[in-house]
Amino acid sequence: MSATIIDGNAAAKEMRRDIEARVGARLQAGKRAPGLAVVLVGLNPASQVYVSHKRKDCAEVGFRDLAYDLPESTSEAELLALIDRLNEDPEVDGILVQLPLPGHIHAEKVIERIRADKDVDGFHPYNVGRLALRMPLLRPCTPRGVMVLLERSGIALAGKEAVVVGASNIVGRPMALELLAAGCTVTVTHSRTQDLESHIRRAEVLVVAVGRPEMIRGEWIRPGAVVVDVGINRREDGRLVGDVHFDSAKAVASAITPVPGGVGPMTRALLLQNTLEATELRGV
Ligand code: GUN
Repeated sequence: MSATIIDGNAAAKEMRRDIEARVGARLQAGKRAPGLAVVLVGLNPASQVYVSHKRKDCAEVGFRDLAYDLPESTSEAELLALIDRLNEDPEVDGILVQLPLPGHIHAEKVIERIRADKDVDGFHPYNVGRLALRMPLLRPCTPRGVMVLLERSGIALAGKEAVVVGASNIVGRPMALELLAAGCTVTVTHSRTQDLESHIRRAEVLVVAVGRPEMIRGEWIRPGAVVVDVGINRREDGRLVGDVHFDSAKAVASAITPVPGGVGPMTRALLLQNTLEATELRGV
C-alpha cells in the first residue's frame, strides 16, 4: 500500500479564500475588518518566522494586523498591562501571544489574562474547558486544523482507536479532546509512557506531536492507519522533517500528512478562522 497524501496547503488555501470572501461580505455590509493583535516577546528565531507568517496571512485575507514586538527584557507586569489594554480595545477581536515566552514570564498567567472571547489560540482554561465539555467556542488551532483535514479527507472517526503521541497543552491534550468528541477511543501517550510501540501498533488514527525528528517509523504503524504528523524539525543537513519517518510510514498507512505542507498551513488557517469567529461571536 502507498498512502494518500493529505494536502494541507490546498486545504488551507481554500479556507483562506473563504475567509477573504467573508471579510469582503462584512465590508460590503458596512462592518469593519477583523483585527488581530499578534504579540511577540524577544528574538526567538522560530517564533519570529511563525509570527511573520501569521502577519502575512492576516494581510492576505484583509484582516487588520496589530503588531506588538516587545524586547526580551519586557517584564511580566508590562506584558499583562498590554493584554489589559488589548482586552479593552474595541478594535481588537483576537489576541495572540506567541509562545514560548522568556523564562521570567509565566505563560499560564498571561494566557489566563487574555479575555476568553478574544483568545483566538483557544488556550484559555475557559475555552479548553468548553472543548472538554463538548461545548466548544474558540478551539486550539492545531488540533482543530487536524480535525478539518480528517473531515475533508472523508475519514470517519466514530468508534476508531486513536492514539495521540505527546501530551502538551498546545497540541496533545486538546487533540485528545477533539478526537474524543468525534467518537474515537483515545489513548494519550507521553514521555513516561511504557512500551510506546505497543500503543502505536493499535492506532487506526495516529497523531504525533513530540518534536523529535522521524521518531516514529513505519514498522510500528498499523497497516491502513491514518497518520497525522504535527512535528516540524530541521535536520542538520537543513531538511525539514516531521516526527514520523515519512517514507516508511507512507508504505503502510492509508493516508498521511506530509511535512512541510500538512498540518502547519492548517494551524495558520485556523487562526484566521478563529479570529473571524471571535469577531462574529462578539457581534461587531
Ligand atoms: N507556539 C507554537 N505554537 C503556537 C501556537 O499555536 N500559538 C502560540 N501563541 N504560540 C505557539
